[in-house]
Amino acid sequence: MKNIKFGLVGCGRISKNHFKSIAEIPDAEIIACCDKVEKRAVASAKEYNIKKHYNNYTEMLENEKLDGVLICTPSGLHPAMGIEAANKGYHVVTEKPMAIDLESADALVKACDDNDVRLFVVKQNRLNTTMQLLKKAIDKGRFGKIFMVQSNVMWQRPQDYYDLAKWRGTWEFDGGAFMNQASHYIDSLYWMIGEVESVMAETATMERKIEAEDTGSAILKFRNGVIGTINVTMLTYPKNFEGSITILGEKGTVKIGGIAINKIEKWEFSEYDDDDKLVEESNYEPKSVYGFGHLPYYMNVVESLLGETEPETDGRCGRKSLEIIKAIYESARLGKKISLPLK
Ligand SMILES: NC(=O)c1ccc[n+]([C@@H]2O[C@H](COP(=O)([O-])OP(=O)(O)OC[C@H]3O[C@@H](n4cnc5c(N)ncnc54)[C@H](O)[C@@H]3O)[C@@H](O)[C@H]2O)c1
Repeated sequence: MKNIKFGLVGCGRISKNHFKSIAEIPDAEIIACCDKVEKRAVASAKEYNIKKHYNNYTEMLENEKLDGVLICTPSGLHPAMGIEAANKGYHVVTEKPMAIDLESADALVKACDDNDVRLFVVKQNRLNTTMQLLKKAIDKGRFGKIFMVQSNVMWQRPQDYYDLAKWRGTWEFDGGAFMNQASHYIDSLYWMIGEVESVMAETATMERKIEAEDTGSAILKFRNGVIGTINVTMLTYPKNFEGSITILGEKGTVKIGGIAINKIEKWEFSEYDDDDKLVEESNYEPKSVYGFGHLPYYMNVVESLLGETEPETDGRCGRKSLEIIKAIYESARLGKKISLPLK
């Protein structure tokens, strides 16, 4: 008998990472899965040995005795599905972004608070070995004063990718390159550098036939004085080229690059630390830009639910990157600098 029982909704592309990760955790199992396209729920149940499958989410919540739900549906559906689960007394794990507007993100946080259940927002990139090493260097103060941070998300998403599902690239359910593909990178900048004071941005829909942006750049002024920039495009020829974060400080320079912050390309500090020996072994080759972070992420979820630790990224933390992204959109729309917090 496993201790923690989950139901998963949304048996699409990212659900594989969830099914595979939970299967490796001794204390947890997915006992039911659901997709409104029934054959997807059936196929996932078969492939991952899940006892029950549903094509209706409410029915799954009503028929199963769960500890938590794993939400892997289009982004715009996360809050309503999370609120429904919280009202049933189930813990909520939602894929990123937790919502695509702040009002429904707040409603989700409130519903989880009111029902005394946990809310986890999947930010698995924080758990990459490369990112963990960089965060440790920042926390140890190895950079001295940090001056600048720079991030590139130069990937390729062909029109075929957007045409796979109607929700992709729409304002109602997805958002664009910042909200979807770059949201982990925005989260990483916030996690490493801190609160953002203001944002200036340009976005454009240059090539893809979608409502939201396929390309954009933003300048972030952090409250501690650090200046950050992030460039995002889904039009890189001919394929994913770089997903990187560079930090420039008084006593150190680090660039974590590769296609998805999987490779430490520059690691130089004025003073030696034993962590310097870990640089080579931190690099890894990801099969996709999603990386390997879902398993350690779920280990934290399960340990938190067993009362052994605290959540890595909860709802309030997930809301931070959403607010920065909303400020980026607001700045690009109005053509002016936007201050945070947003009203
Ligand atoms: N953490 C990451 O790195 C990462 C990577 C990719 C996607 N994501 C996020 O995961 C989410 C899903 O992305 P995806 O690429 O897997 O999308 P997808 O379109 O492949 O899968 C979504 C699934 O949800 C199902 N669905 C939609 N409405 C439903 C409903 N009302 N009830 C039940 N099922 C429903 C669809 O039929 C589909 O099978 C998005 O929010 C995305 O941002 C996160």
